[in-house]
Amino acid sequence: MCGIVAYLGHKSARPILIEGLKRLEYRGYDSAGVALLVDSTFEIHKTAGRIAALEAILPKPKATQTVGIGHTRWATHGEPNTVNAHPHADATGKITIVHNGIIENYSTLKKWLTEKGCKFRSATDSEVIANLIGYFYATDNSRDGQHRPCDENKFEWAVQQALHEVCGTYGLAIMCTDYPSILIGAKKGSPLILGVGESEYIIASDAAAIVEHTTQAIYLSDNEMVVVTPTGFRTKTIDNVLVTKSLKDIEFSLEQIELADYEHYMQKEIAEQPTALATCLGGRIDLKSARVVLGGVQNLLRDLTRTRRIILTACGTAWHAGLVGEFLFEQLARIPAEVEYASEFRYRNPIIEDGTIVIAISQSGETADTLAAVEQAKERGARVLGLVNVVGSTIARSTDAGVYLRVGPEIGVASTKAFTAQVAVLTMLAIELGRRRHLSSDFARSLLAELHKLPAKIDRILEQSDHIRDIARENMDKENWLFLGRGVNYPVALEGALKLKEISYIHAEGLPAAEMKHGPIALITDQMPAVFIATQCSQYDKIIGNIEEVRARGGKTIIVATEGDTDIARYADHLITVPDATEQLQPMLTVVPLQLLAYHAAVLRGHDVDKPRNLAKSVTVE
Ligand code: G6P
Repeated sequence: MCGIVAYLGHKSARPILIEGLKRLEYRGYDSAGVALLVDSTFEIHKTAGRIAALEAILPKPKATQTVGIGHTRWATHGEPNTVNAHPHADATGKITIVHNGIIENYSTLKKWLTEKGCKFRSATDSEVIANLIGYFYATDNSRDGQHRPCDENKFEWAVQQALHEVCGTYGLAIMCTDYPSILIGAKKGSPLILGVGESEYIIASDAAAIVEHTTQAIYLSDNEMVVVTPTGFRTKTIDNVLVTKSLKDIEFSLEQIELADYEHYMQKEIAEQPTALATCLGGRIDLKSARVVLGGVQNLLRDLTRTRRIILTACGTAWHAGLVGEFLFEQLARIPAEVEYASEFRYRNPIIEDGTIVIAISQSGETADTLAAVEQAKERGARVLGLVNVVGSTIARSTDAGVYLRVGPEIGVASTKAFTAQVAVLTMLAIELGRRRHLSSDFARSLLAELHKLPAKIDRILEQSDHIRDIARENMDKENWLFLGRGVNYPVALEGALKLKEISYIHAEGLPAAEMKHGPIALITDQMPAVFIATQCSQYDKIIGNIEEVRARGGKTIIVATEGDTDIARYADHLITVPDATEQLQPMLTVVPLQLLAYHAAVLRGHDVDKPRNLAKSVTVE
């Protein structure tokens, strides 16, 4: 939610900020702004709308403007208009900030500052931070009346005082007119990275805004700040204790975040699934011994094998992957598993018995609720495993052990390739745990061998893209859809419904097919397409029964079936086939046509699939 980028170096800051904001636009895109330091004053430009709208109002860049901050917003407090857009300056005009996160005690602080004579312009929580820093800077006194020690830098000290007052989360970049060659970044609960180039530095929410300029970065931890100057940087806690951080390589390239020949990132990421899946599986399967090698979980494998319960926790698409994981852990490893929405788990006073293992699943590794669930689980003594895509992200660093998805950056807001990889990792883990318990080496080996064949099978599904577009065209004017599946394909039905909702704005519900008759069947008409996942599986006959129930009531069916199933065509108004696969592995195939269906429906309805309304890729607020 919200992307921030800040530059200090020897080049003109503006193009770097704008380029960086475009790369972060997936984090929020309802308003945007930049502030540049010019002759000891700020030049602030901001507007409602996307980065393109901001670019249109900017004057020509000046080579002398080598320090600046920028922001792309996903509104939380205050509607998305120009006044509420960042950057926000304090009332004196000396301090300006960009902020990603939420200040929970902003109304108390705002009241206190207002009583001190401070005037606010916006409805945001973020402006409170600018004014708090401005207040401490102007008075040189902390809130409890302590005078600033004379050996402490005034700007840094004021930032620290302000950060001691705020509750909530922040990724911040801050400038002060009296210190034109200092840029300060600070982090708590929202991601913040410092890219370190040749005499130039970029603070950003995400490495995507940095990688064009440098592949060296430091990752700030919570309650840390970085003070950047033209000759270097210092990292310290907000309590002013110096911290040494090591430089890390940013592990993705510019090509991975370019659109290349695709029209949308979502389209590119759907098409990338065969290679992404192959990379995710690469080097992790030993067919000879029928075992899986996941280096990052070695220290937890013993506990995992003996655990009496696994809790999977996640949000959105990752939660759907968790539901597939629940099925696999129970079927293949015979370990009781349950899936929790991270947002519910964290507040439910959860019972974590001795030896419970929690698995947190997150593409971004920054989702606030998932992160809070991880902290909650750790506090209660659980060992926590992270399944994360973004290397070095907060969840990746907070967990006891982890497996990276290795699918490269996912930029489209609707998650696609991360889902297939999350399911692939859960499958490998379930097989390995099964092997350590009771699963026969023959069955494990056959599953593992089949996993290697999935990328080529996904390729075959992708070849049907035009056919799926035709189905989408015929049904795109229907405003309510049902997605139905059973067993391991029930979570895929949920995921298909979510994909359609989030990018095409069509109302859709995913259900276990048999549940339909307990209510939703009342909705069936020929105006409500029912998408069935009816591949060859243990419940095939049952789902055919459910299809009959829909057809008997005049419903129209779109059926995802196994290649070569000639019988099923008679039940289908539209048929999509996927290659045959063992039941436990099917979700990695059956989800692909549903991703394509949603993609084409959204494009045909004229929507921006990469930036769906009201959504953001990385939800770093509660
Ligand atoms: C947002 C995204 C979804 C994603 C969810 C969880 O809602 O729009 O695509 O599934 O967050 O994100 P995570 O990064 O934790 O997987």
